[in-house]
Amino acid sequence: MQVIETLDHMRAARSALRRPIGFVPTMGYLHDGHVSLIHRAHAECASVVVSIFVNPTQFLPGEDYERYPRDTPRDLALCEKAAVSVVFAPTPAEVYPPDFASYVEVTGLQDRWEGAIRPGHFRGVATVVAKLFRIVQAERAYFGEKDYQQLQIVRRMALDLCLDTDVISCPTIREPDGLAMSSRNVYLSADDRQRAVALFRALSAAQSQLLGGETSGSSLSSTMKDLLVKAGLDVDYAAVVHPSSLEPLERIGREARALLAARLGPVRLIDNAPLRPATWSETQK
Ligand code: PAJ
Repeated sequence: MQVIETLDHMRAARSALRRPIGFVPTMGYLHDGHVSLIHRAHAECASVVVSIFVNPTQFLPGEDYERYPRDTPRDLALCEKAAVSVVFAPTPAEVYPPDFASYVEVTGLQDRWEGAIRPGHFRGVATVVAKLFRIVQAERAYFGEKDYQQLQIVRRMALDLCLDTDVISCPTIREPDGLAMSSRNVYLSADDRQRAVALFRALSAAQSQLLGGETSGSSLSSTMKDLLVKAGLDVDYAAVVHPSSLEPLERIGREARALLAARLGPVRLIDNAPLRPATWSETQK
């Protein structure tokens, strides 16, 4: 496994890799969610490139950029074990030289939900992902549904800017009790870790209510919100949206997505799930 820190070395290394290349962009502190993306890339591609870069431009002032968890030796060991071909781990100065001045914005999609609460976050994500896509030039890139809005934004951007990398979505990997795996889960106190399962319960409750015949988006949103509040979480949003435009849905027809964001003390958690009416799932079997 090669570990590469500069753009020039990465450009040189990519031409020696067997194609197709599968690319997994990460911010490190890898867990089974990330590893599932690496395995999927392996199953579908001849070489796998993983990037590890805690991207400063996607953190707002006052957010956790400095204290975001980092453990490079452990990450490299996990990548080695997963038979990754190249780990690309550039420094911030390499990605953002002093005269850096170009940013990518995905208008509309970037302004909703996470974007409304963390203005500028998705501009940082889209910019770094565009740059990484250009440097790695993979045929495919693998993203988790865990960050559902990010996935839609990256997909839109790759199409709009003709980046020639197919964006592949991969299911959310969860702890046994349902909590979605996340690098930030290490911030949770023992009590809050117990409460955090409310996110998964809220998503499951909305799906059950839909199967019971309730197709009103606002009713399902209220169900999720009430459940989170009762469990002691501060809710940023609990929404039922169209799966690609992410606009709120008043009535669920074929398919919708439930999006949640809530705070437990200092820790902010997000989660989401598909919502499918009984008729829809039956026709898919
Ligand atoms: P990071 O949070 O490290 O996540 C890297 C990738 O792993 C993302 O595609 C994310 O959706 C996926 N992932 C995280 N937790 C997951 C889980 N429980 N199950 C499945 N996939 C999961 O997302 C980022 O980094 C950054 O914004 C990045 C895209 C690298 C740009 O800086």
